Amino acid sequence: MSGGLMDSFLVEGGTPLRGTVEVSGSKNAALPILMASIAVDGDVSYSNVPDLRDIRTTAKLLNILGRKAEMKEGQVSVENGEMGIEAPYDLVKTMRASVLCLGPLLARKREAKVSLPGGCAIGARPVDQHLLALEKMGAEFDLQNGYIYGRCPNGLKGAHISFAMPTVGGTENALMAAALADGETIMENVAREPEIVDLANFLNRCGARIEGQGSSTIRVRGVDRLYGCTYSIMPDRIEAGTFLVAAGITGGELLIKNCPAGDMVAVIEKLRETGMSIEETADGILAAAPSQLKAADVSTNPHPGFPTDMQAQFMALLCRAQGSGMVQENIFENRFMHVQELVRMGADIHVKGASAMVRGVQRLEGAPVMASDLRAGAALVLAGIAAEGETKIQRIYHIDRGYERFEDKLSAVGAHISRIHEQD
Ligand code: EPZ
Repeated sequence: MSGGLMDSFLVEGGTPLRGTVEVSGSKNAALPILMASIAVDGDVSYSNVPDLRDIRTTAKLLNILGRKAEMKEGQVSVENGEMGIEAPYDLVKTMRASVLCLGPLLARKREAKVSLPGGCAIGARPVDQHLLALEKMGAEFDLQNGYIYGRCPNGLKGAHISFAMPTVGGTENALMAAALADGETIMENVAREPEIVDLANFLNRCGARIEGQGSSTIRVRGVDRLYGCTYSIMPDRIEAGTFLVAAGITGGELLIKNCPAGDMVAVIEKLRETGMSIEETADGILAAAPSQLKAADVSTNPHPGFPTDMQAQFMALLCRAQGSGMVQENIFENRFMHVQELVRMGADIHVKGASAMVRGVQRLEGAPVMASDLRAGAALVLAGIAAEGETKIQRIYHIDRGYERFEDKLSAVGAHISRIHEQD
């Protein structure tokens, strides 16, 4: 990962992408699975870990907590060791997912001091469900000076938990805590995302007893100790989905290796509705654009619904489709920050509350634009490689948080994209 905070991408659009792209390990699986090492009383070594800004932040947090974590070419090793209990503000402010150390710290150390995550560009994103679940297991919390203080002097106890909404992070925190709690925990209305399944499989590899992952109800029988292991992180379904859209929006054809198609049914079905051909082959997923994309409506929902993390990229695709498509965002209250930037490139989009009507246009034109968050940034890169002329995308540090060597992978299949290093 080479990006500075002031870097930009320069994109010359208009070239149909052709060739093979390899999908990296999943950011949203690697983050909780690395955090789970806190609950493990042993050394852990991970493979297929993407080299991303957020992964480096997680390794930094583990080191601050006293677990020696080292990253090298897709491998991360975490050594067992004496551990602290504090996740400081300076780190948490750069990555909300730091709050995922709360559950494993309480389970292992019976105490935790974690900076309360602040607001985020895409929504308020409270953590009330995380705290409610851990309170059900016997933890007590104080919020002071911007920090969550958690204690459970007698250890966590198994409990019956029912989430108000299928929260990914809430489910992950409760799962890591329940793995070491005394007794059985039943968790209902949990998130069913593939990353939750990957986390549960990792914990089971360390000796946990978890069942039901991937369904709406998970049952955990607590154990006294989790043992070290080796584990390979699942491929990134959102990165894969982004490349599927890249093939469609440029009128190209891509073979996507390591594409977890089984975890992307809603995305693949929706892209087929636009006329794209998406076929499973022995080497990967072959995605080809039709001569003319057709518009389609889409609504984001928890898994197995259409993922909110693909909403912006799909909106970019609709900008080049024939007809109009309605995009409904049901997960985050402020996830249309990319709309005005796409309109600057000549798109025709009208937002009303949580819906956006996208009318396809003949052409997008290059323009200077700015990324406001990770997926919005990816959507602007997709629009840029499909547009006529030059697009400069600023604040790409957002993109570096979730896409490994994005510009290299795109250049390798024909995109004209380069990174401009600008002084911080
Ligand atoms: C995870 O965020 C992902 N991040 C997000 O991906 C993804 O968009 C999101 O799940 C939904 O799929 C990681 O895995 C690191 P939630 P998370 O808890 O866990 C509300 C990306 O682009 N809620 O499922 O924060 C919340 O406000 C990122 O890679 C509460 O009200 O999402 C939101 O509206 C962006 N109280 C909804 O639930 C809570 O305690 C879903 O949030 C928790 C959540």
